[in-house]
Amino acid sequence: MAALEIAGLRKEFGGVIALAGVDISIESDKIVGIIGPNGSGKTTLFNVVAGVHKPTAGRVTWQGKDITGKSAYRIARAGLVRTFQQAMSYPGLSVRENVRIACEHGRRREHGSKQKWSSPEEILDFVGLRGLEDALAGSMPFGNLRRLGVAVALGANPILLLLDEPAAGLNDSETSELSQLILQFPKLGIGICLIDHDMYLMGTLCERLVVLNFGTKIAEGPPDLVLNDPKVAEVYLGGEI
Ligand SMILES: Nc1ncnc2c1ncn2[C@@H]1O[C@H](COP(=O)(O)OP(=O)(O)OP(=O)(O)O)[C@@H](O)[C@H]1O
Ligand SMILES: [Mg+2]
Repeated sequence: MAALEIAGLRKEFGGVIALAGVDISIESDKIVGIIGPNGSGKTTLFNVVAGVHKPTAGRVTWQGKDITGKSAYRIARAGLVRTFQQAMSYPGLSVRENVRIACEHGRRREHGSKQKWSSPEEILDFVGLRGLEDALAGSMPFGNLRRLGVAVALGANPILLLLDEPAAGLNDSETSELSQLILQFPKLGIGICLIDHDMYLMGTLCERLVVLNFGTKIAEGPPDLVLNDPKVAEVYLGGEI
């Protein structure tokens, strides 16, 4: 059984139907991608799954337990952790402090798993921020801030990490470094569910893609099939991806 089961998930904001009843299963040992045009409901899906918003209808099951409408804090402590489209951290604190705080609030032994990392420094090393532990988070350039966002998410000790556009605003070499980093996660026992508009990145990183359009799932499967599906090309400006 997949770790995350999303069934009939619906989210309305006033008159806007952001999710129109979506069914998706996501494993926690793979990199699964969510694609779709702007406004198709991708971020809303993450927000509802991670407890930022309550769904209008439907059910979210995590490791066999119903977590629908539970708080973001409780969901994160159960190992389902999201990052934000905008890099977020405590800008006035050091890089090390940002990760230390995340480690203190992350998944604990009561959820049957011990912290994979022995220290914030080990995480910073892994994401390529070694030597910058004492830098002020707010003084870091954008690419490093993104790495810090990943380090903070790792500090929470996730089983499945929801990454919303981690490569947005990065240049080509930063994007390729980030994808090398993301590729390591399944080896560490961390599943990834990834949103991004960069189809090359998604096609390279993801084992499976799910496509949303107007809050509805219109396709899913291996990237080579999905990205060549005429239905999918159609929703991207009615042409080729
Ligand atoms: N908090 C909110 N209040 C009102 N409407 C919202 C809210 N969040 C999302 N929406 C609306 O829900 C729809 C889906 O938005 P969402 O942000 O999930 O799309 P997205 O697929 O992540 O788009 P993008 O690729 O641009 O990030 C849009 O019409 C959006 O305007
Ligand atoms: Mg979005």
